Amino acid sequence: MTRPLNVIVVGSGVAGMAFALRLSDLMKGGEGTIRMLSKAPPEMSNSHAAQGGVAAVTDPADSWEKHRDDTLEVGAGRCDPEVVERVVKEGSACIHELLRRGARFDTDGQGRLDAAREGGHSTARVVHRGDRTGAELVRVLRSQVKLSTNITVTESLLALDLLVADGPGGRWCNGVRTIDIHSGEITLQHADVVVLATGGAGQVYRHTTNPEGATGSGVAMAMRAGVALRDMAFVQFHPTALYAPERKGTFLISEAVRGAGAVLLRPDGSRLMDGLHPMADLAPRNVVARAIHAVMSEQGAPHVWLDATRIGKARFAREFPMILDHCWSMGLDPGREPIPVMPAAHYLCGGIRTDGEGRTGLDGLYALGECAGSGLHGADRLASNSLLEALVIPRYAAASVLASERREPVPGNEVSGRYMFTGPSRTTLALRAELQDRMMTSVGIVRDDAGLRLAWDALGTILHRTDVVWSSGERSMELFELRDLVMVARAICEQAIEEPRNAGAHWNADRRERRASEPVA
Ligand code: SIN
Repeated sequence: MTRPLNVIVVGSGVAGMAFALRLSDLMKGGEGTIRMLSKAPPEMSNSHAAQGGVAAVTDPADSWEKHRDDTLEVGAGRCDPEVVERVVKEGSACIHELLRRGARFDTDGQGRLDAAREGGHSTARVVHRGDRTGAELVRVLRSQVKLSTNITVTESLLALDLLVADGPGGRWCNGVRTIDIHSGEITLQHADVVVLATGGAGQVYRHTTNPEGATGSGVAMAMRAGVALRDMAFVQFHPTALYAPERKGTFLISEAVRGAGAVLLRPDGSRLMDGLHPMADLAPRNVVARAIHAVMSEQGAPHVWLDATRIGKARFAREFPMILDHCWSMGLDPGREPIPVMPAAHYLCGGIRTDGEGRTGLDGLYALGECAGSGLHGADRLASNSLLEALVIPRYAAASVLASERREPVPGNEVSGRYMFTGPSRTTLALRAELQDRMMTSVGIVRDDAGLRLAWDALGTILHRTDVVWSSGERSMELFELRDLVMVARAICEQAIEEPRNAGAHWNADRRERRASEPVA
């Protein structure tokens, strides 16, 4: 008889919880443990922040083939078609499973699911709950996780590195090294299988819609263990973050606002997307972000405008209550006047290379959600496909994990030391600011050969200086994060340098001639 599985899930967003719940269901209440470890509660995850929704075919006039075609079109020839097909085919089943688990989505007067329209979609197919869909998913999944007898959750552990064993059959992952963010205790947590679901890396950039915890820790851990990545050059910039230089953090104005009729305006009040793409304001995000970037650069403007007045005050208040509250808190009224917006880093389309079951190149290691590069998104992500991916691939990953080989008995946890936390030094803070404010601006929406080379060299220097700070004895959370941020930044930069042609979210101005069909000049 096979012995019970011992699984660690790092991260507690939608992908991690969907996986844990599915595996727990497959275990049928039998033996086996699923330990979810995270440095923060799910309310601080990227998933929780998701406004838009879950892209899924729920209207009989729509079809999974159309959803597939939209995904492939936005992915600009870089998607894995088999993964795309797998994911979009299961949209409706996922929504029904969520409804069964107690999710509440917006419906029309007849009780049918209400679908919003977002960029790159040929039809309205984004199932949502107002402008807080991520929070609704987290609420439902979290309540189910709490009821499960197989799943334990610890929300104060930062995963530092993967534990990798080596034997005659090759290398495999058999756990993670964690640090308790309160006590500084370092523990080797062993497991049969480790699942990374650590979310994105938006904090590599100064302006990002991602929460503070999005520091790319899963991708960096995989890199340190020699696990292959893919598609790292493709960082999606969301066209409409609210311009608010005096505020900490960058607030997203959902694309569903444009889906409901809002339009982008140049500083002189003219329509920004007119004539640039057949889908105009709802073109794929890379097209819209680049068009805004061009206007801002040419005119030296810090932002452009989003005119949502045409949606009507009542509809705006009904469909976007959180956005409205936020705007009001800043003295802006989107029902009455255009609001200032700018692009901001939003989503890492690539990540740790996986197949359609979440398996990475290292035995015993899976990756799910934003930290994974499953091939679904290709060179740019179709809006709201990420929550769908975070629901579908975990189903396959759970079945694959359950069937996986148990290599050897899993040793218990082993305390291996303790760090005395310090505060961050001025150098650490300065290095992070340099990374975000100077280096990564050359690896942003528009890149060029010289800028990428300079950034690559400078990131090498930052990495070296980070090591020097570490050797000096500093043990601050900021330094742990910086270590990961620099590694991920270098991976983005390196793959951007290596990209032979412009596609989707990667645009190198020195390769412009290769993209004659690109609609935005
Ligand atoms: C949005 O609401 O605009 C973001 C949704 C997404 O990133 O898919």
